[in-house]
Amino acid sequence: MTKGNHNSPDLKSGKGSKDFSKYFDFSDAKVISEEEGKITYRIKGRNVQINSQPDYKEGKRRGKEEIEVHYDFEIPEEMQNFGVDKYYHITTYGCQMNEHDTETMKGLLEQMGYKSVDDRNHADLILLNTCAIRENAEDKVFGELGHLKNLKIEKPGLLLGVCGCMSQEEGVVNRIMSKHGFVDMIFGTHNIHRLPHLIKEAVFSKELVVEVWSKEGDIIENLPKKREGMRAWVNIMYGCDKFCTYCIVPFTRGKERSRRPEDVIAEVRELARQGFKEVTLLGQNVNAYGKDFTDIDYTFGNLMDDMRLIDIPRIRFMTSHPRDFDDKLIEVLGKGGNLVEHIHLPVQSGSTAVLKKMSRKYTREAYLELVRKIKISVPNAVLSTDIIVGFPGETDEQFEDTLSLVREVGYDMAYTFIYSPREGTPAAAMEDNVPMSVKSERLQRLNDLIKENSRIINDRMLGEVVEVLVEGESKNNSEVLSGRSRANKLVHFEGPKELIGTFVKVRITDTKTWYIKGDIVAEAAAVH
Ligand code: SAH
Ligand code: SF4
Ligand code: F3S
Repeated sequence: MTKGNHNSPDLKSGKGSKDFSKYFDFSDAKVISEEEGKITYRIKGRNVQINSQPDYKEGKRRGKEEIEVHYDFEIPEEMQNFGVDKYYHITTYGCQMNEHDTETMKGLLEQMGYKSVDDRNHADLILLNTCAIRENAEDKVFGELGHLKNLKIEKPGLLLGVCGCMSQEEGVVNRIMSKHGFVDMIFGTHNIHRLPHLIKEAVFSKELVVEVWSKEGDIIENLPKKREGMRAWVNIMYGCDKFCTYCIVPFTRGKERSRRPEDVIAEVRELARQGFKEVTLLGQNVNAYGKDFTDIDYTFGNLMDDMRLIDIPRIRFMTSHPRDFDDKLIEVLGKGGNLVEHIHLPVQSGSTAVLKKMSRKYTREAYLELVRKIKISVPNAVLSTDIIVGFPGETDEQFEDTLSLVREVGYDMAYTFIYSPREGTPAAAMEDNVPMSVKSERLQRLNDLIKENSRIINDRMLGEVVEVLVEGESKNNSEVLSGRSRANKLVHFEGPKELIGTFVKVRITDTKTWYIKGDIVAEAAAVH
């Protein structure tokens, strides 16, 4: 059904994988059997069946081939009841894209009869949906695998899978094969729909099954999804073609490909019909949406304009790239309505020289000009951002440029990170003369500034009335309800549980750095 690279690895030479030898002693590996698209090796006492494994070179290639959209996905008949009386547990790391992939895997597993269980000691199937964005994200997963080894020893029938972005990395797959051979499945972000097949192969062969396609041109439309709560995620595009020099995502998520507008619109309409109150349109770069269409001229601005016509109270999007933020989009966002005025606009650095080294393809001035235009056209626009400190060679002066940009824009919120080298990316080969102590200090200074900013912005809201979607009881106090404003501010207030899932108006009475408190003024009947 789907194409993908079925690159057969050559373990002895390490071909197809740059640093195969880094973790692995190939003299151990013996070929047991070989058939088309599948090789089985004996590695450290365990059979490893490799259908395909990651290949950065292949992953980097962006073909011009047509994107095929499939509407005919089905779980194989023999697997349709495979999960009856069995339990699954999925641990998800990383971004919303991964969270949403987990919803798809849950949907697939539940269609197979599996039930979800919170306590993983009671699970028959455990999946780690991993993130590769920074080294500490990966360390967590390797730590977790250490714990799971004991569980596997106690319960040999337990099926263990590693999926998500780390599985797309050449070095990671090798490291798992050589050091964590008790894992049963490793599959990539393009192989999620193959989960029922992979479970079958792993269970019946008792081998470690590896299936990671590095390159993917297809979209599979009708995968089941298990959504919870009142806010839903909807993918509008997959992959990323930007290749910022520090970033692993273009390798782990493949080339940019947009879902057809009619499919996105139908899904959002259906979510509205089911009673969801908020939809977040997802993509690594949502405003590159539609650039890959060859038959229609339809961009993210057009899609947002169409979203306004759907009877759902709130539409958000994650994440937009400053370079692709065109005037059409600004104009449509200015129309408001169900398009909320919160824009997450990652800047990464306030220095044009650093932005150039990052290959972000905009300057400090262009970013500030974009912010100015947004603030003029979108009344009360609230901006948040992502920033990396300590990029290779970042000088004190360049870091000061980031601080001054943060002051100038006045972000409500920002995610800040110390640069983490990712193997295979261009930045990993750049000379880095900034000591870790300096990077940590910069991060601290930046965080202090952002905190100060947020506090000032929140204080300005005192006495204002905001519309809140009530999501549930506050984590620490069941008397208190919590929800989000249109600008995505966390709001706490007292009220009856019956309000959960509705919109209320709240007058702000007290502000903290990361949330605000208030009193209910009225239910906001108009947006029900
Ligand atoms: N597509 C989004 C970013 C997704 S990754 C965008 O382009 O805006 C989320 C954030 O992680 C990035 O915005 C960046 O700030 C951070 N990040 C990505 N790679 C990183 C690395 N190698 N080291 C530190 N932070 C990184
Ligand atoms: Fe990574 Fe840049 Fe793509 Fe964002 S736009 S996912 S930072 S390569
Ligand atoms: Fe991480 Fe993959 Fe998302 S690397 S941030 S889970 S796209």
